[in-house]
Amino acid sequence: MNSQSARTALITGASRGLGLALARALARRGWALIIDARGAEALEAARVELARHTRVVTIAGDVTDEGHRKALANAAREAGGLDALVNNASILGPSPQPRLLDYSLDVLEEVVRTNTLAPLALLQALRVTLKEGARVINITSDAAVEAYEGWGGYGATKAALEQLSAVLAVEDPELRIYWVDPGDMNTRMHQEAFPGEDISDRPPPEESVPGLLALMEGAYPSGRYQARAMTRGDEGTAAENKEEEDADAVRAEAAVGG
Ligand SMILES: NC(=O)c1ccc[n+]([C@@H]2O[C@H](COP(=O)([O-])OP(=O)(O)OC[C@H]3O[C@@H](n4cnc5c(N)ncnc54)[C@H](OP(=O)(O)O)[C@@H]3O)[C@@H](O)[C@H]2O)c1
Repeated sequence: MNSQSARTALITGASRGLGLALARALARRGWALIIDARGAEALEAARVELARHTRVVTIAGDVTDEGHRKALANAAREAGGLDALVNNASILGPSPQPRLLDYSLDVLEEVVRTNTLAPLALLQALRVTLKEGARVINITSDAAVEAYEGWGGYGATKAALEQLSAVLAVEDPELRIYWVDPGDMNTRMHQEAFPGEDISDRPPPEESVPGLLALMEGAYPSGRYQARAMTRGDEGTAAENKEEEDADAVRAEAAVGG
């Protein structure tokens, strides 16, 4: 158990996948945690596991819900403020993903509310709780910058999140804003994207965690990063990031083709 002076991170969507893998790594490094997810049962299982290593507050709820965001902000205040906010919670949308001309706009609105508006709304709700130099990590995707067939809805929500992040970085230089592509990962979301396919060749989310830790604990400038490229070298140069994007594109095309 850690002292009150431990660094505190709020991670959305930490009941499984990348969010839980990051929470586990931070807990081992002594960070205190505030985490959420809609499903209370999986969130409670995560709490029980993480509480063996650190202080952890769990609040079940939906990031699109204003009351839930207020509850997260209260928890952040009670924790003495945040050193990091990780906007990780996200939904794919329909599975399989429809082409844009067939995409239900009502459903797309929900994906936009979750993937684009909620991260900004949460940052607005938490701004007074962010400590000096706090890191804000918005998890995006290669689908934000590549035009994959079927990925127009989800990809547009992530592209918008990237642009929001870039403008925040200009408007609020006192914050370190990182928008991060974690790369393809073997998670439930990825399985939803490729229903019925074997996705066991995709790396586990744990492989994307060291890059996120480097951003949270280092002093990188605000910007777009490729999580896995960062730990292949050290800081993820533009060339490495491009290389990682190309590899992701090839994997995605192969998977779509398969
Ligand atoms: N997997 C990939 O290949 C891949 C590639 C590029 C980018 N990403 C991005 O990486 C991040 C993590 O994805 P993942 O693959 O780990 O997904 P995942 O396995 O589906 O996990 C998503 C987590 O977010 C929670 N969540 C979803 N909607 C929520 C909401 N409205 N409010 C609160 N919590 C919510 C989920 O729990 P509940 O369902 O119980 O709420 C779960 O804990 C996402 O931002 C995703 O877009 C993933």
